[in-house]
Parts: sequence; structure tokens; C-alpha cells
Amino acid sequence: MHTPTLLAATADFLSGRSVTPRELPLLRQVIREHDAYYYEHEAPIISDAEYDQLYKLLVWLEDEYADHASDSPTASVGQGVSEKFEKRAHLSPMLSLDNSYDPDDLHGFETRIRNILKTDEPIEYALELKLDGLGVSLRYEGGSLVRGLTRGNGTEGEDVTENLCTISNIPKRIPYSDTIEIRGEVILPHDEFARINRERAALGEKLFANPRNAASGSVRQLDSAVTAGRGLRFYAYSCPILEDGSIERYSEVIERLGSFGFETTKIFFETHSDIEQLIVRIAELTTHRPAPGFDTDGMVVKMNRIADWGRVGFTAHHPRYAIAYKFPAELARTRIADILHSVGRSGTVTPVAILDATAIGGVTVGRATLHNYSELAIKDIRIGDHAWLMRAGEVIPEIVSVIIDARDGSEMPVHRPDTCPVCGTALAQDEGKIAWYCPNRSSCPAQLQGGMEVFVGKHGMDIAWFWKKQIELFRSLGILTDFASVYRLGDHRDTILGLDGYREKSVSNLLSAIETSRHAKLENILVALGIPSVGRRTARSLAQYLTRQIPDDSHESPQESILAICNRITHEDLENIPDIGPIASANILWYLQENQDRIVALFNVLDIRLPETLKTNEDSESPLTGKRFCVTGSFEGYSRDQLVEIGERAGGIFVSSVSRETDFLLAWEKAGSKLQKATTLGIPVWTVEDFLKESGKESW
Ligand code: IVH
Repeated sequence: MHTPTLLAATADFLSGRSVTPRELPLLRQVIREHDAYYYEHEAPIISDAEYDQLYKLLVWLEDEYADHASDSPTASVGQGVSEKFEKRAHLSPMLSLDNSYDPDDLHGFETRIRNILKTDEPIEYALELKLDGLGVSLRYEGGSLVRGLTRGNGTEGEDVTENLCTISNIPKRIPYSDTIEIRGEVILPHDEFARINRERAALGEKLFANPRNAASGSVRQLDSAVTAGRGLRFYAYSCPILEDGSIERYSEVIERLGSFGFETTKIFFETHSDIEQLIVRIAELTTHRPAPGFDTDGMVVKMNRIADWGRVGFTAHHPRYAIAYKFPAELARTRIADILHSVGRSGTVTPVAILDATAIGGVTVGRATLHNYSELAIKDIRIGDHAWLMRAGEVIPEIVSVIIDARDGSEMPVHRPDTCPVCGTALAQDEGKIAWYCPNRSSCPAQLQGGMEVFVGKHGMDIAWFWKKQIELFRSLGILTDFASVYRLGDHRDTILGLDGYREKSVSNLLSAIETSRHAKLENILVALGIPSVGRRTARSLAQYLTRQIPDDSHESPQESILAICNRITHEDLENIPDIGPIASANILWYLQENQDRIVALFNVLDIRLPETLKTNEDSESPLTGKRFCVTGSFEGYSRDQLVEIGERAGGIFVSSVSRETDFLLAWEKAGSKLQKATTLGIPVWTVEDFLKESGKESW
């Protein structure tokens, strides 16, 4: 289904009109497609509340008309299994939780239990947080962590062992010798989420919508070094083997998991023996939410007496001994003062609501993205409207709906502009895509501004003294027109000196920083170009590949050689490069084709630094070739980056954290937890001397 069609169908189902059984297949398809956005692309296009509403509608219709299909989203636990990872079976099924949205639903929960147990005795409940991350299952054999799976379809999950091994608070050994599965949630703390999105913004990369998507994307990475850099944490809340009846209470299971070295839901844990008291407590917690520093989306109530779990049983989807109460999304009333059309670096035009300053969840919000024009139309958002504002994932504000009753007729509908609000070029839309964009890649000022910010940025050409304001100013003077024009700014020295606030010293600093950047590394230049989906890691792999393609007897300059290789590079070549998948490959080819002139003009004024010795070492294998190495501690005379570079030039593969797959750890003074971990895992520890010798660099 095209995205606009999907959104229109979604809005139709959510509108509250009565739905006939004939529409069930469509509703199932709509939900499946939202599942794909959520689980496969990790980029949902509707809010959780809207999804839950669709899902509830489906459950209700299927029950009402006794129409249950085996391919219905209600017949499986949820998340699919992607092709990216090996699929492996769980020892016991990984079920989900039943959801409730009203504390009063807990009466029904207790009644069901009482009917089955046929008891009037008090029932003891555990109350803990519902952690909003990615459910995973860890398998230990003989006390060692041997496997980590995502929940997948509940029966089989994706094998993400290597990635989970990088999470620092997951014990790699536990004092329990039988085979055991321990389950819990991988979450991304708020501060880490903010840091990652800041870094992605600086690189012009797509931001994660919320910490849960970021956690899921980080665990389902093909490169575990990326996972390692994401600051993920794991909290345990279940262990089927310990819940087989040998331990009396769930609270004791949690204690036991703690004694194995896990962090658990004990961070917030209460027991209650009276459902009324529990309902009051949940209502209290809804207004004064526990704030553990990561996202929680509700509370989980579990019967504390495990002996009764087997008696109350399970459905195909969830156990009857537990229920989740989902917190309502935090909402605030706001007013839409204006709607702007913002043009991004890639030319995409996005409607943005400018709001009367509104306090929500401890911050003041002044704008909210409306994502795209289909959403604007579906939600019928107008200038002057009063609306409900929600902070999704407690971070990114979005408009949930307008308050129709508050309209007085003065509200102004807003339509998608036909032309770029910045340069006036007619907007375009690619088939099957929802976004509209300005196709004026070469001279749209908004695209130039965004592109230049990435170009001069730290991970790009790294030109100090070159800031957003200067880009704006030089652009307006017409002396900054494309990447290559940065290197002609010296011709305009006098013009710049004549500008307000520009002194001899600052202009010299700027021009000399520009000169230095002519000798940038190829990988930085690739980041600087701002190719969609090419971040630092991809750029580094691409740079290594391009360098290796240069014939040894080449008489051309590095830039000529690289351009020639870029001209003949194919999809297949690109997809064979580590870190480059089909999307990055398509983006790279598209970019190279669209921007040929710009790239040639830029390369003509650069003096690119290639990772030289990569070439020589490809043919002559060194003892480091293919070895995965990690670095820790401080080394006299060498920075960490230098050592990484030496190792990589000698064919080694740098990994940022120690796991069972690491071949050796390079450690020296002040080595900390990494050294400890390597010793525990029996991984060889090398000194700098060993390392330099093996890499063929007695000195550097
Ligand atoms: S218990 C058989 N406890 O929420 C029940 N799950 O929406 C096993 N979750 O699949 C799960 N916090 O990934 C349990 N305190 C908690 C939880 C929790 C978050 C996740 C879990 C589950 C999903 C259901």
C-alpha cells in the first residue's frame, strides 16, 4: 500500500465510524503495514495510542463477528523476524502482555483469576515498571552467555548475540550451571538518546523517533561496534526455569536474578494484596510517574505467587497471571500560531507547527513537526487551531489532534505549497513516497545552507571557525555557491574583511583552516558530501574500498583515480562493502549521478589523503589481517586513534568493546573494565610493542 493510502485508511478506521466485517481484511493489512514500519524500519508513522486503538478495534471486530484468521496480527505475538539475522528458537515461547488502559480494568483481571482459582482469599500482586524498549532473551549454558535473541514471533527470534554481548550490564557469566533463559528489556537511557540524536543531527542523519526505536535499531545492527557505542542497558524481569514452581514468589525470582549480577525491575518494585489499593496506587503513579532516566510506558501487575501461574494459564498471546497498565500519553493543550514549510538539507519540505509556548513533561515546547502533508490533511490542522500536544517517547513533541469544538471559524487551513518556499522551484514527489521535495539540488539556498553545515562540520571537512552564521552571510554575498567555492573564499579576503565584526586575525584563522582541510582524509570528504545514509562508519568502509581499487601502477592523482572508480562503481560492488546495504547503495549511486559536476569541481581543488598503506597490506597479509582488536588504556607517545589507524592499516578490524569474538585487546596503563572483561573471557592481551611489531610498524 502506498503510504498516503495507508494513512488515509488508518484515519478512516480511527474516525470512530462503524466498521463492517467486510473491512476486516483491510484492517488487518493496515495493522500489518504499521507493524512493518514499527519493527522492520523502526520508524512508525502513527503514534502508539493510534496503533493501540486500531488493534483494539480489530480484536473487538474479530470477537464480535467470530471471524478469526490465522494470518491476523492478533494471532501472533507481534514483532516479525527480519532476514538480517539468523533465526533461532526460544527454549520456551516468549509471550507478550495483555494491555489495559484504565486502572478499573484491573477489576476484570482479578475476577478472571478468582473464577479460575475459585478463591476468595486475598491475592498478592507484584507491581513493577513496564520498560519501553526491546524484549530479549539471554541463554546461558554452563554459566556462560551463549545466545541472545529478540522476541521475534514469540517462537523464534533473531540471533543478536554479538550485539547483546556489547551491553555492559549484561553479565557474561552467571553462577548457575544448567541451561537457563533470562528475559528482560534492552532500553536506551534518555541522556544517551539525546546524545545519539545530537550526533545524528550534526551528520545530517535521520533522527530516531524515540528511545525505543533507537534501542531496537541499535540491537538489530549488523555491526556490533555500532551497538557498543550506544549506551544500552538491560533489565531482567523473567526467567522461565526459575518460574517453574520451585521458587514460591516472583519477588524472589527477581532477587535471584539480582544475585546473578543482573539489574532487574527491582528499581521500582512493590507488592500489594488488595486490588483496590493497587488501583489507587496505579492512579497515583500515573500522575507522579517514576523517572528512572529511561522511557517507561506503564506498570505491570503480576500475581506474586508463582504456584498459581500454572493454574490460571495462558492465551496464545499472553499469560493470564500478568497484565500491563499503559500510561496515557502526556498531553497538553496548545495553540497553533502558525504553520511553516521547512526545507531540509535533502530538499524535503516538511510542515512545522509554531506553537504558543507550552509546558509539557518538564520542558517548554514552541514547535512541533507535522511530519508530512498527508498527516497535515488527515489531522486537518489549521492555523489558529487549539490542539492536543503529546511528547512521544517523552522526547519529540507532536500534535495528536485538533480540538474541533474550540474553533470559532477564524482558523486558516494550510495546503502544501506547489513551489519551494525558499527558491520557488516546483516541488516533486517520487512514486510511492510520501515526501515532497525541492528538486533544485544545485542552487536551492535552503539545501545549500544545510549541505554546507554538514560539509564544514567536525566529521566532514572539519573547518574550525566556519559556523552556520558565516555560511548564511557568505551565501547571501554570493561568494559561497557550492563545495568548491569554499576553497575560493581566499579570493574574497578583502570583501570579508570589510564585513562587520571580521578582523584580520579571524579571517586568517578561517582561511588557514580552509587550507588545511584541502588535505582531508577521504572518509571525511565522503561524510562532507552529505550522501543520504552515509555516516562516519559507512564513509570509512567506502573510503577503504575506493582506495583498494586504485591500481598500484596508477599515474593519476588520488582524486582522479577516485573519480574514475566512482564513475564505474555498481550496485553489486557497493553492496559487497561492509556496512553498506541496499538503501545506502542506492543512495550512493543516486548521489554520485546527481552531483557529478559538484564532486568533480570539489575534487579538483583538493589534495586528498588516502589511507595509503591499506593498499600495500591487502596483498601482503600481515599477522593482523582480519583480526578483531579492541584498545583500552593510555599509551605513551600514541593516541588511541593513531593505534586504531595503525591496526586498521595492517588489515585489523577495530571493535569498540570486548566480546567473545574479539581476537585481542591492546591494553596499557589505566586499563579498566575492558581488561577485566578480556581476562574473564580469556582473550589475549597485547602490549603496544607486540602490536607495533605485528603490524609491521616498529615505530610510527
Ligand atoms: S513480563 C510473559 N515485565 O512489554 C510475560 N514484560 O508489551 C513476559 N515489558 O513482551 C513479560 N516491562 O517485552 C514483563 N516489567 C515487565 C516488562 C515487560 C516491559 C515488555 C516485554 C513484553 C512487552 C509487552
